[in-house]
Amino acid sequence: MKKTISSIVNGVELTREVEPRLLLVHYLREVLMLTGTNIGCDTSQCGACTVLIDGQAVKSCTVLAVQADDRRITTIEGLVQEGELHPLQEAFWEKHGLQCGFCTPGMIMTARDLLERNPEPTEAEIRHGLEGNLCRCTGYEHIVAAVDYAARQMSG
Ligand code: FES
Ligand code: FES
Repeated sequence: MKKTISSIVNGVELTREVEPRLLLVHYLREVLMLTGTNIGCDTSQCGACTVLIDGQAVKSCTVLAVQADDRRITTIEGLVQEGELHPLQEAFWEKHGLQCGFCTPGMIMTARDLLERNPEPTEAEIRHGLEGNLCRCTGYEHIVAAVDYAARQMSG
């Protein structure tokens, strides 16, 4: 039997009927067509599926869509404001923080949560904050540099 859920997704209130077993990542990608959130492993290891739930970074392959009921969800698509990229998105561009880009949405959403809690992180704190997100291309150096650059831009 389907359940009705209402969530604010990227600032828009959306109500849908979903199967109780549907994962949040599948809800976002296949029901709402927000395909910026990637699926890398489905076993909660890679972080490619990371989104914000009420501002907190969560791996959306570990959460059921019904658990998003009455919650505020932000995906990578929701970071763009009035056509302007978020400073983190600009920073990944500026500092070459990606190669294939598959991990990038999850990295950015995790970094968003990190900078919200700690606006001026040390390099070690950035590395610790991103340890749940895997990248198979970059060796992480440019990703760390991008988050550091964004932190400086955002704190002025
Ligand atoms: S797809 Fe969710 S952690 Fe890898
Ligand atoms: S840029 Fe390819 S997985 Fe990170």
